[in-house]
Amino acid sequence: MNEQGLGADELRKLGLVRWKSGELELAILSFESALVLEPDNALIWEDLCGVQLASNNSERALASIGRSIAVDEQRPQSWLMLATVLDRMKDQDLAASAYRKTIVLDETIASAHFGLGIIHLRSGKPAQALQCLQQAVLHDPKNAIAHLCLGHACYATGDFAGTAKSFDAAIEFGPLDPDSALVRLKAMTFQAIIEGKLEEALANYSRLADPGDGPVDISQEAFALLNVHGYRDAARLVGQFRLRHHPNDVVQRYMNSAVAGEQLPTAPVDYVETHFDRLAPSFDRKLTESLQYRAPEIMAQMIALHRGGFDRILDLGCGTGLAAKPLSRFGGIAIGVDLSGSMLLQAEERRFYSELRKAEAVQFLATRPVSFDLIFAADVLVYVGDLSAFFSAVADAIVKDGILALSIETTAAANFELRPSGRFAHSVTYVETLASDHFEKLESTTATLRLEMRHPIEGAFMIFRKR
Ligand SMILES: C[S@@+](CC[C@H](N)C(=O)[O-])C[C@H]1O[C@@H](n2cnc3c(N)ncnc32)[C@H](O)[C@@H]1O
Repeated sequence: MNEQGLGADELRKLGLVRWKSGELELAILSFESALVLEPDNALIWEDLCGVQLASNNSERALASIGRSIAVDEQRPQSWLMLATVLDRMKDQDLAASAYRKTIVLDETIASAHFGLGIIHLRSGKPAQALQCLQQAVLHDPKNAIAHLCLGHACYATGDFAGTAKSFDAAIEFGPLDPDSALVRLKAMTFQAIIEGKLEEALANYSRLADPGDGPVDISQEAFALLNVHGYRDAARLVGQFRLRHHPNDVVQRYMNSAVAGEQLPTAPVDYVETHFDRLAPSFDRKLTESLQYRAPEIMAQMIALHRGGFDRILDLGCGTGLAAKPLSRFGGIAIGVDLSGSMLLQAEERRFYSELRKAEAVQFLATRPVSFDLIFAADVLVYVGDLSAFFSAVADAIVKDGILALSIETTAAANFELRPSGRFAHSVTYVETLASDHFEKLESTTATLRLEMRHPIEGAFMIFRKR
């Protein structure tokens, strides 16, 4: 069609027709011609952006939508388009800001809530995603994908009833994909357990999860998830059920005590050994990636502020040897001690430790009087409740002026407490008081130790010098 003699509005309409019929290049030409006539028409810049995006030209689309917003920054659709372009360009932070701006201008735009919710889901913030996706389905109840994503956000935040409800809403539009169907089944199982129908729920799951492949036991996952989401009564029931069926499971026995709120003096040796033997293959990836654990690096940096080198280092509860790299800056020889043989096998592969010992920390310390000028205890005292024996053993094993570096999970409770997670938390005052018999404090700082179900676990790093 000849474009000569057409006005901006007609050119725009022509562009829209061409876009609709898939003639993207011609549509771009029509919009560009319209903009020659009306360079300050925000709507046409927005159209041009849309068709450029459809032709996978994100850079040009970004420039066009920038022009649209420069002309009129009050158009929510332009901000939504900007967010979409930025999302496509994988600039999550700026895309999130543009979605937020869209919502400020018009809170009924469901796709802005949806886009923001997806960004939160992708970046591991299910609680924020949940809020956005609830708004998305409120303003557009016909968006099946929004219901589906809301179901996943509910599951990640431990709202099992909400999970089932959202997936049921999605099913109205078509069958669920296999992953979502399984999540729905789990959520219904966990919700039934919360409502007191434990055995029936486990049996139903076993029957429905994978009928071709024999019975499926979901009880371990149920215990962990119900516990971590704070459904303590339900977790306690599952824990008791599991122990009845696996009476020799030392991990379950200890975890049942922790969930029941029993206050033990320390974690039993057989628990620590079995738990970490099981965890060893996935430990490094899990801690450093999903749990964002950086205690060894932070502690080594704190030590370096006071001392540049050591002759004999003891890495207590060395685990897989995540501290090997940060400790290597200090020179000297290093000994690693741990209760878990599987963790030690991985530590060996780092070729850093001159000696690796499978032993209980306090018992090992008693065998090495006045032997170390650095004792390093990263994320191990969380498995020792009463620290009196630990401090006197460390005091005997360390040389005068030697450094003790440790991390703890902190609590406002007096002294220490065993948490439902199975880890102990200590009060800073308790640790400092015990340490003060033999050590002077050089430094202490509170910080996030790691994440647990994406929530920060608060702790402290402390550096002491032996008097
Ligand atoms: C959370 S991991 C930390 C490992 C390592 N320190 C790190 O920062 O990556 C705790 C380690 O302490 C060990 N552990 C716990 N209690 C212990 C004890 N009483 N004696 C020796 N090792 C212990 C466990 O076997 C496990 O490997």
